[in-house]
Amino acid sequence: MSRRALLQYLELLKQSGIQHLYHESAQMLTPVGKKALLEDLAQEYSDCTNCPLAAGRINLVYGEGNAACTAMLIGEGPGDSENKIGKPFVGAAGQLLDKMLAAIKIAREDVYITNIVKCRPPENRNPSTQERLACMPYLVEQIQIIQPKILLIMGLVAAQSLLGNTHTLGWHRQSRHEFMGIPAFVTYHPAALLRNSNWKRPAWEDLQAFQKEYEKLL
Ligand code: URA
Repeated sequence: MSRRALLQYLELLKQSGIQHLYHESAQMLTPVGKKALLEDLAQEYSDCTNCPLAAGRINLVYGEGNAACTAMLIGEGPGDSENKIGKPFVGAAGQLLDKMLAAIKIAREDVYITNIVKCRPPENRNPSTQERLACMPYLVEQIQIIQPKILLIMGLVAAQSLLGNTHTLGWHRQSRHEFMGIPAFVTYHPAALLRNSNWKRPAWEDLQAFQKEYEKLL
């Protein structure tokens, strides 16, 4: 990363309220320490006003799961149920996600699940670029703390936001990627699978490829 890019990144973190960089020190934290730190940060950011999504927030949906996980799953943003409950993927898409995970022998409790934006976009519209950028430091921080070994990116919005391009989902699914140096797989968003069952077969193929890599890392 160039010096200019690094300074821009640090400024973005500062403007977003991020005050610490955890990359080095996170390696020293026990799983209990990571869990406690994530809980403290979720509380600290619960009244975030860094973007317009704050206006419709009932709960900031920070993330949930195993702070010592191997795999982190990243969706797009909370929907209505998630906004009400404060946890990611608890509505219909979440129920399908649980089944998808079970099919590749992963329990929800094994992984950490979060989203690109932590507050619900009105009417479930796609989050704007401004909203995605405003929330990105929170995700970067979560990854620095948890240090997952593999990422499963769900849906086009999450893929384009993290991988910094405007390619199609098909393009993203065809190759391996990295985010923050971590191998990343891209698949369909569970909500998309609820809308179009023709995508279930290719999604199953993505999940099997993910499972193969995941199991090597255990
Ligand atoms: N869709 C998402 O992308 N995330 C959730 O948490 C729920 C639905």
